[in-house]
Amino acid sequence: TDPALIRNFCIIAHIDHGKSTLADRMLQLTGVVEQRQMRAQYLDRMDIERERGITIKSQAVRMPWAPTESDGALVPHILNMIDTPGHVDFTYEVSRSLAACEGCVLLVDAAQGIEAQTLANLYLAMENELTIIPVLNKIDLPAAQPDKFAGELAHLIGCEPEDVLRVSAKTGEGVDALLDHVVRKVPAPVGVADAPARAMIFDSVYDAYRGVVTYVKVVDGQLSKRERIRMMSTNATHELLEIGASSPEMTPSEGLGVGEVGYLITGVKDVRQSKVGDTITQLHKGATEALGGYKEPKPMVFSGLYPLDGSDYPELRDALDKLQLNDAALVYEPETSAALGFGFRVGFLGLLHLEVVRERLEREFGLDLIATAPNVIYQVAMEDGTEHTVTNPSEFPTGKVASVREPMVRSTLIAPSEFIGAIMELCQARRGNLQGMDYLSEERVELRYQLPLAEIIFDFFDALKSKTRGYASLDYEPSGEQVGDLVKVDILLQGDRVDAFSAIVHKDKAYAYGVRMASKLHELIPRQQFEVPIQAAVGARVIARETVRAIRKDVLAKCYGGDISRKRKLLEKQKEGKKRMKVVGRVEVPQEAFIAALSSD
Ligand code: GTP
Repeated sequence: TDPALIRNFCIIAHIDHGKSTLADRMLQLTGVVEQRQMRAQYLDRMDIERERGITIKSQAVRMPWAPTESDGALVPHILNMIDTPGHVDFTYEVSRSLAACEGCVLLVDAAQGIEAQTLANLYLAMENELTIIPVLNKIDLPAAQPDKFAGELAHLIGCEPEDVLRVSAKTGEGVDALLDHVVRKVPAPVGVADAPARAMIFDSVYDAYRGVVTYVKVVDGQLSKRERIRMMSTNATHELLEIGASSPEMTPSEGLGVGEVGYLITGVKDVRQSKVGDTITQLHKGATEALGGYKEPKPMVFSGLYPLDGSDYPELRDALDKLQLNDAALVYEPETSAALGFGFRVGFLGLLHLEVVRERLEREFGLDLIATAPNVIYQVAMEDGTEHTVTNPSEFPTGKVASVREPMVRSTLIAPSEFIGAIMELCQARRGNLQGMDYLSEERVELRYQLPLAEIIFDFFDALKSKTRGYASLDYEPSGEQVGDLVKVDILLQGDRVDAFSAIVHKDKAYAYGVRMASKLHELIPRQQFEVPIQAAVGARVIARETVRAIRKDVLAKCYGGDISRKRKLLEKQKEGKKRMKVVGRVEVPQEAFIAALSSD
């Protein structure tokens, strides 16, 4: 295809502003999906995506479109649309997609206005020097205020309110005009056709039947079927078994040229061999200089994942190996816990990523799992000059600690101005530092806070929603590290530490954490033959204590004079019960108690 007739664009928006629905309408209007095959959120393929109504993986689709010129002529163009996820955890997917485009549709809900991810995505698009097409969606809603929000949006990106398009992704109103606009406004891709091929990998997914499917944008040259290619970062070589475009089903072709977006298959089985951000060239007379890559996604949040049934450990390992084929951002290593047995310490991009991975493990692999409380990464400097990276609080080094650094985030909060007080109060309580505040319009305000990541990952979003009646939105990005007044709190049963309950918390919150965990365990641990003290301690200092009183349990007491087979049954039953007990020191605790104590309230 002549690059002059290609337009590569994506749709970016705050969560729920209607990206996937707009993508559906475009698929229909351009005729790539037939009416009777159409279903809502056509491009969201994963069960979790469909059920939760969110997009997790990006998708690229080729669509034909011929805008009507002023002279009435129709010039067929090729549009490559890339649907992107909206949630902060998946921002790295968004930025990859953006780098494959020349333009983007910035979609804003006409009943909601600009939200935190609208801004975050807009800044990403500006960094990538994309042409931005501002669009208000959901104009069919009675609550829509298109005039008001067109003004807000125009002010934000520096255009006239009349330049803001208005559509309803639901009814399809205005969507054909939007497609015409994309052809007119988004620049055609530029590249050198007779140079050695350079194609950028912007996504790779594992398909059980075909192996890894790699999504690329060809920047220079041409990639052809059967050709041998080289991955420029690893120098690994492969044969191109298949190359083509998704429209939206995979459609093989002879090759891809300058500006084209498509997929390729080499028979590789592991997504890590087809690294996102890498450049592909031909093996023979290939390019010598790779294209600029992407930032590697870095795990921000760690949690221990354990099978409820210890004998499922090999299945869990196998399942994680398989998920990683699909999700290059997932990292894990084996770990053991006295309380929970054998499991893995797993790194995630954020809490939603954690939830999604956990749900996929349980659903797609039939595993029952327990996850320990999530924590961030700490850098611990000791007085003897050594440095430790701590991803598991129970591995906090012993000895004289000089300082503990924790990851920080730069957060943006947008809300109606009546909630400024409530938001400030919340951020203050979470050790936040106000960096700035701007009015987007008379009644909507943007606040910027520097916050410790650890304060955000638990229940910050829920607290924010409840304090603002759901009107506030939040976005954040990593912003270095900072020394914090942090201590490790241990929970001890009869003097023995229960590893799964160690936590690193701010000094001011250590007492509350200790009291909460001790009283929770006190409720859950059954009485034993002897007294069991439950203590919370910071170093050698005990900050909270509860005691489970002793009992003498005699299972045979009930069957005084009873027959021997009944006694035997009872003894058997008791033995069975023991198997599910975990022993900490001398104390036997049913695993359920640990699980109940770990599940958040
Ligand atoms: P994520 O993929 O999770 O980021 O969400 P999204 O931006 O793709 O939003 P989605 O398309 O799933 O739409 C969110 C909700 O808004 C759905 O319930 C849609 O049916 C609804 N919606 C989308 N567009 C319109 C519209 O034009 N009018 C009305 N009334 N509802 C719409």
